[in-house]
Amino acid sequence: MRVPIIAGNWKMNKTVPKAVALIQELVPLVAHSQGAEIVVCPPFTALYPVGRELSGTNIVLGAQNLFWADQGAYTGEISAAMLVDLGVSYVILGHSERRAYQGETDTQIANKLQAAFKAALRPILCVGEHLTDREQGRAQAVVETQLEEDLKLLSSEQVRQLVIAYEPIWAIGTGRCAEPADAADMAQMIRNVVADKFGPGAAAEVRIQYGGSVSGANSHSFLSQAGIDGALVGGASLKAEDFATIVKSALR
Ligand code: 13P
Repeated sequence: MRVPIIAGNWKMNKTVPKAVALIQELVPLVAHSQGAEIVVCPPFTALYPVGRELSGTNIVLGAQNLFWADQGAYTGEISAAMLVDLGVSYVILGHSERRAYQGETDTQIANKLQAAFKAALRPILCVGEHLTDREQGRAQAVVETQLEEDLKLLSSEQVRQLVIAYEPIWAIGTGRCAEPADAADMAQMIRNVVADKFGPGAAAEVRIQYGGSVSGANSHSFLSQAGIDGALVGGASLKAEDFATIVKSALR
């Protein structure tokens, strides 16, 4: 049985006092939500203070990125060990915003996935197509290529632990969601690729999220699809009540 996982990607939002206020508002709203894993991913600068608020709660801490090297002359970067140090459990990797604005490549993402596992962090790997890819019938091929490249350094034991977020780029921050049935088709395709490359055990255990304009109003339509095991939430994760509604829609 795959445990549903709802993760909030706060992106580049919230100074420390605002991050602490948000988490203090969220904690009691989801305190009785058993049966789903709940993750919040604040910016690096708020990881420590938010993490302190999470001790003894049912919410775990995630980060939004890491660098693949263990340590050294990489100005401005953050290693996996530094995240573990702060109590981080999950790390978002390969988000389309990093692919777009930081020029992150699939090879870099593959190295980051390997570094995360080496430090016992659980990655949430983001994949997804551009609107033109979907309009021209290439959506599945694009996502399949991303998976082939991004997962190439991993073992099937590691892929069992992985979370893959299908986030169509045209649905992020636009209010324009994928059709739940299309998201479910893509989740099935992702699981088939995992089965092909890593075997049926990994395919049965890997958790697949949908992300892209998920809200309290639409989350149930995604989370009720077989094969969609959770959501990666951007904008709505910045509002405690909305995020709590999404968490509740994941409880089975
Ligand atoms: P929105 O929920 O704001 O569309 O963002 C989705 C996302 O990019 C989560 O990683």
